[in-house]
Amino acid sequence: MLQNETVTVIGAGNIGRALIGGLIEGHEFEPAQLRATRRTETALKALQKDFPGISTTSDNPAAVQGATMVILAVKPQNFAGVIEEIKDNVHPETLVISVLAGITTHTLEEAFGQKIPVVRTMPNTPAIVDEAASAITGGQFAKSKHLELAKHIFQAVGTVEVVPEYMMDAITGLSGSGPAYVYMFIESLTDAGVKQGLPRLTAFRLASQTVYGAAKLVRDTGKHPAILRDEVTTPGGTAIAAVAELEAHGIRTMLINAVATASERSAELSGE
Ligand SMILES: NC(=O)c1ccc[n+]([C@@H]2O[C@H](COP(=O)([O-])OP(=O)(O)OC[C@H]3O[C@@H](n4cnc5c(N)ncnc54)[C@H](OP(=O)(O)O)[C@@H]3O)[C@@H](O)[C@H]2O)c1
Repeated sequence: MLQNETVTVIGAGNIGRALIGGLIEGHEFEPAQLRATRRTETALKALQKDFPGISTTSDNPAAVQGATMVILAVKPQNFAGVIEEIKDNVHPETLVISVLAGITTHTLEEAFGQKIPVVRTMPNTPAIVDEAASAITGGQFAKSKHLELAKHIFQAVGTVEVVPEYMMDAITGLSGSGPAYVYMFIESLTDAGVKQGLPRLTAFRLASQTVYGAAKLVRDTGKHPAILRDEVTTPGGTAIAAVAELEAHGIRTMLINAVATASERSAELSGE
């Protein structure tokens, strides 16, 4: 379907290489259609080894030359320098997709200094196992075909929501940063099992599979989480005793406040 596209990933680190992997495994692209850049020579060799047939280089301007899509996947602090390097090699037909947290489409358009289609995205690290929750939004020059293309790319590594840009800070707080909260939950649940006398590895496997299974059940059935919780809580039983304890410690307020703080921080970092 995307045989006419050439995609350059600038900064093929965690997120960038997850996208490359997802696109190759999903047979969306032939490896020859993909180019990846990093500064470190050994890292480029590793990319070549993991994804035979892709082109790799540390030369960003050359990598962008002739590409139909450019995915910016460097850290936000590196974006201005990178755009300065490549801006003369992109043109108004090049789709620029950014995963840069907190950098608005307006800032990106300004940095390129031309009317190029920009799609801003917020994936999360489960992209590495093709289970990302991504949100995407288009800049002022992005048409529906550009959003469709970007959606296609991110669907290769998970699910995609198309949203208006004002939601991006909230999404950064919820799903962009969300895996961190879930890892803390798994770690705590593991410690809880250890406290009850379980071997650590057994507790860890049970805790992580419980989180994975519960998430899959809620996602696949579409049932409200409160209904699924009710199904586990036998009257006078064990689960309701634990639920009461969690409620007493304000688990809901804690999460609501955590996401609010992360969203505020995202807005602060974007400086808008
Ligand atoms: N991690 C997350 O949870 C997450 C979630 C959503 C969005 N994001 C966004 O995704 C972006 C990347 O995050 P990440 O976690 O994938 O970071 P990362 O693993 O550090 O990847 C960034 C890569 O950029 C490369 N790089 C830096 N400067 C470069 C340059 N001038 N030219 C070419 N490559 C360059 C680095 O490799 P070398 O040092 O070898 O050059 C590095 O591998 C960030 O903007 C972040 O905001 C991350």
